Amino acid sequence: MRVIEVKDYREMSERAAAHILDYVNGMKSCTLGLATGGTPIGTYRSLVEAYRNKKVSFHHVYTVNLDEYVGLSAAHPNSYRFYMQENLFNHIDIPSEHTHIPNGMAADLAEECRRYEELIERLGGVDLQLLGIGINGHIGFNEPGTSFSSRTHLVKLTESTRSANARFFSNPEEVPTHAITMGIETIMRSREILLLAGGIKKAEILYKLFTEPVDEQIPASILQTHPNVTIIADSEALSRVKEKKVFIV
Ligand code: GLP
Repeated sequence: MRVIEVKDYREMSERAAAHILDYVNGMKSCTLGLATGGTPIGTYRSLVEAYRNKKVSFHHVYTVNLDEYVGLSAAHPNSYRFYMQENLFNHIDIPSEHTHIPNGMAADLAEECRRYEELIERLGGVDLQLLGIGINGHIGFNEPGTSFSSRTHLVKLTESTRSANARFFSNPEEVPTHAITMGIETIMRSREILLLAGGIKKAEILYKLFTEPVDEQIPASILQTHPNVTIIADSEALSRVKEKKVFIV
């Protein structure tokens, strides 16, 4: 795992966007794995700005998002489809049929998971996967205890994740109880992974990521075994790692 330490959220976002832009500009066609949450919003903002300044086109890009809440439609302001449209897709030239997010409204959720996994295969797999990290170490919505050999599946969200995400909802009760997420193995099959972490809330989990053994109780720990992971983290997120003088490069 390569670690790039940056000053703050803004620098994290700019570095991440620059990495994605280099990638997209260097490929004839590619598939990006995208994430939601508070962390990548600044990255998406920088990508939109680069598009507006004619530094990139997304015409040849395909995207697959990590996850989606069950029971929220694309028009629901808290659905991840809505988030992606608002924060990125509506502002760039990506063809809408190139953008994919699990359908949390599917009548048959197990079938939707199979369809999504097949879709990723058909696209030739994910080239570059953007990831955030939950405070309990979840990636996508793969909660602690998820099998490392999981593919796209239905999950019951932990109370810790529901309350961490309640800030986006007007009422905490409205946070869905279930989600569809790419599995850990789905994520690990990506050719390259870019994980972003910012803020003091992520300090403890980053410390665990660098010091704990690979264990299904910390889903992100599996990233230690991936051959091409870059972590861009700000000084707050790395504060505990540095305080403990953990050697990370
Ligand atoms: C959410 C998402 C994850 C995200 C994580 C961290 O639950 N499903 O994909 O990485 O939690 O969120 P944030 O970036 O808001 O800290």
